[in-house]
Amino acid sequence: MKAIVLAGGFATRLRPLSCTRPKALFPVVNKPLLEWTFERLEKHNIRDVIMAVNHQTEIAVKEQKIPTHTLRVMYSRDPPRKPLGTGGPIKKAEKLIGHDSSFLVLNGDIFADVNYTRLLETHRKTRATATIALCKVDDPSRFGVAELAKDNCIRRFFEKPSPEEAPSKLINAGVYAFHPEIFEYMPENRAVSTEREVFPKLAKEKKLYGYIHSDLWMDIGKPEEYLEINRILLNRTKGTQNQQASRGSQVREPVAIGKAAVIGKRSVIGPNTVLGHDTVVGDDVRIQDSVVFDGAEIDDSTRIQGAIIGGHVKIGKRVSIPKACILGDYVKIRDDVSLAEGVTVCPAKEISESVATARNICC
Ligand code: GDD
Ligand code: MG
Repeated sequence: MKAIVLAGGFATRLRPLSCTRPKALFPVVNKPLLEWTFERLEKHNIRDVIMAVNHQTEIAVKEQKIPTHTLRVMYSRDPPRKPLGTGGPIKKAEKLIGHDSSFLVLNGDIFADVNYTRLLETHRKTRATATIALCKVDDPSRFGVAELAKDNCIRRFFEKPSPEEAPSKLINAGVYAFHPEIFEYMPENRAVSTEREVFPKLAKEKKLYGYIHSDLWMDIGKPEEYLEINRILLNRTKGTQNQQASRGSQVREPVAIGKAAVIGKRSVIGPNTVLGHDTVVGDDVRIQDSVVFDGAEIDDSTRIQGAIIGGHVKIGKRVSIPKACILGDYVKIRDDVSLAEGVTVCPAKEISESVATARNICC
């Protein structure tokens, strides 16, 4: 059984963190999102994974060296400067996927605890050309939305509909089972949108079915969603993540502390906090409701609350980083700087004075 993971898109809403890494490699409780997906694929006995990437993503994914265990991972790359959209990469990988059996397609930028085995079973039973995992959300406007008949056949499919157009709150979870017949619906050598070009056609022909997914699903597209998925998973694994909590500091669960992290005296970490691998935290530091990426250094008496701190960031003494702040990788913040809520800083930028209003600070 094969799966193709779409991972060649550009995450714009997670800037500045997505300037330096694809969304599929964002750490979720100290594990790249893609590693969670690989583990889930393995659990459901998928053997072959095709990563549909662009040049940059391919390099970044390979560099990350995610454990693959029993999975065989192949790469299928979009042509240089010609992103193929969500359907083009599937058509391009037609030979790798083959025509022997149905296969899985996964958006690489979501956390979706989908039972792939059941999805594939449902797909085979209905003999659909495509079966889409669907989940319920309050605001469907940022997603693909399905109108479902009683037998789970999808009558109509709208990509990013206006509020008046949206026929339901059942959205495309970005996880599909496709029969090889799908290749006939995808033109070759150009960008194709599966959602706008293929699904509406299949719906008309009654070859598109839905599979209701009611377990955990989260698009990590927005910073608050990214913090939320970390919080949810921290709560699920409470108490199992902190073997190396330092002497003299306090950990308030739920917290995850990465390998070789060092925490100074009287510092309080948590609740709802992830400290990445190789992070260094000084004395009297307070970090809560935040995610700190690998290799960040946070000096004495600094306060961080509700923020995302990129990899290898260096933060000085007595710094204040409040809610909704995002620091890109390698940012430096000097001693005594206070940031206003919602300040975002581009990678490698140095900040030596306080910032009083929410804004993006770039080079
Ligand atoms: N290789 C490749 N090339 N991959 C791509 C390209 C491309 O040109 N464009 C997008 N992708 C990948 C993205 O990396 C992502 O994993 C997936 O395809 C979906 O693309 P997004 O750009 O993230 O789409 P979206 O989030 O606006 O909407 C999609 O996901 C929603 C669920 O999160 C749609 O499938 C919606 O219908 C769905 O509800
Ligand atoms: Mg997306």
